[in-house]
Amino acid sequence: MEFLVKNVSPEKQRTACVVIGVFESRRLSSAGEDLNKLSEGYLDALLRKGDIEGKIGQVLLLHHVPNILSERILLVGCGKERELTEKHYKQIIRKTVLTLNDTGAREAICFLSELHVNARDSYWAVRQAIETAHDLNYRFDQFKTHKKNTRRPLRKLTFNVSMRKDLQQAELALRHANAVSSGVSICKDLANMPPNVCTPRYLAKQAQALTMRFDKITTEILDIAQMSELKMNSYLAVAQGSVNPAYMSVIHYNGGTSDQKPVVLVGKGLTFDSGGISLKKPAAMDEMKYDMAGAASVFGTLQAVAELDLAINVIGILAAAENMPSSKAYRPGDILTTMSGQTVEVLNTDAEGRLVLCDALTYAERFTPECVIDIATLTGACISALGHEISALVSPHKGITHELLVASNQSSDKAWQLPMDDKYQDLLKSPFADMANVGGPSAGTITAACFLSRFTKAYIWAHLDIAGTAWVSGKNKGATGRPVSLLTQFIINKTLDKKNDS
Ligand code: BES
Ligand code: MN
Ligand code: ZN
Repeated sequence: MEFLVKNVSPEKQRTACVVIGVFESRRLSSAGEDLNKLSEGYLDALLRKGDIEGKIGQVLLLHHVPNILSERILLVGCGKERELTEKHYKQIIRKTVLTLNDTGAREAICFLSELHVNARDSYWAVRQAIETAHDLNYRFDQFKTHKKNTRRPLRKLTFNVSMRKDLQQAELALRHANAVSSGVSICKDLANMPPNVCTPRYLAKQAQALTMRFDKITTEILDIAQMSELKMNSYLAVAQGSVNPAYMSVIHYNGGTSDQKPVVLVGKGLTFDSGGISLKKPAAMDEMKYDMAGAASVFGTLQAVAELDLAINVIGILAAAENMPSSKAYRPGDILTTMSGQTVEVLNTDAEGRLVLCDALTYAERFTPECVIDIATLTGACISALGHEISALVSPHKGITHELLVASNQSSDKAWQLPMDDKYQDLLKSPFADMANVGGPSAGTITAACFLSRFTKAYIWAHLDIAGTAWVSGKNKGATGRPVSLLTQFIINKTLDKKNDS
């Protein structure tokens, strides 16, 4: 679907469908008022008859409205004007796109992007509308023999902004939304891919293929031999039980000058996490194919950044491995010497993410990064703490925490900070090694972050736990593409800071 932004008046449009908001109770939005006048009160008369109340979720499709140049008018319920929340706005846009896809109209102009959401501007409204529409149109059906196609899908959707001066921002929002959505879509594809297809080697192949599509991207792939040379023993211990060998992909996006320090993103890439010898329970074990969602989000973010051609250096590391039980698998009781030299006693082979990440994070030091963010489906405890709406953010550094929270708010890809106090470090004590790989039953998300913090002393670092937000379960099971929007926004903001600095 193609998207456009415009600043036009509704009565002059000659298109397949014009989309207009109706507030509770039976009140037209200002664009609706314009059309009402032109139609000599036709819309008002309908409202008075009670055909549409204006409640969220309601729609009414009209054909051949008197004096109107467009073929159809779609009235969409927007609820109470003063109570329009972000959640409502997205619901309204979803309903609009679903309905338009059913009408048979091939193109439409939508005036709902003019709706006023508290504390949000037209940049936000346009960007959210386009990201929402892309999200709705996403399908993962490559393994279906019979694909369900929309009969006459909408091809072109224009969002209008009410003021001429907002047009430039709206165009930027369009560009950002398209790039983010493309990153989200590839992130979803990778994450949804079954684990017999999406192995560490598959991820490495995809990372390699990015170089063909973008001039500014180069990729290095590290295999087991190279990682062993680097003494990444902790990472390799996790992988050793699987016949699918580990590969670490390092994707360089070179948009900045060579002396500019890169932003480094490190994604947990467990293409399947069975738990290993500390085997997981069978319920929902299939969902552990999503344990590479962090790596997928890094991949998606690099794609978005490359599409936007941002003037910044970004390095994405996909720390891929498969955690399986076998006679070669690592076991509880094993003591591993990490790349950093610190030793770890394995108490649970299902706490494997941190063992892979710690070596990837040590590896990241060589890039003298401006900052490092790791993204991981790291702990079930994160779901207990924050559920499925909000990702956890843990960092010892105030500056980057603030920047990530700002980006999270701008992109509506929500994150919430959990505390990181030195006290929690005590939970990782081991009688035999420098630390244990688990910190006991309480504060699981924080102790996991504490573990990682021991490997990130050389730079500014933040950790995002996306265990609850990377995919949805149940009948609509599927990857969400989060937090590509948040990460891309964070990087966009960095490029703006740079401009302001110079
Ligand atoms: N990948 C899981 C975390 C997870 C579980 C994410 C369920 C999303 C849904 C991780 O590797 C894991 O197994 N973590 C353990 C850690 C524990 C053994 C300390 C967990 O959270 O149970
Ligand atoms: Mn695990
Ligand atoms: Zn895991």
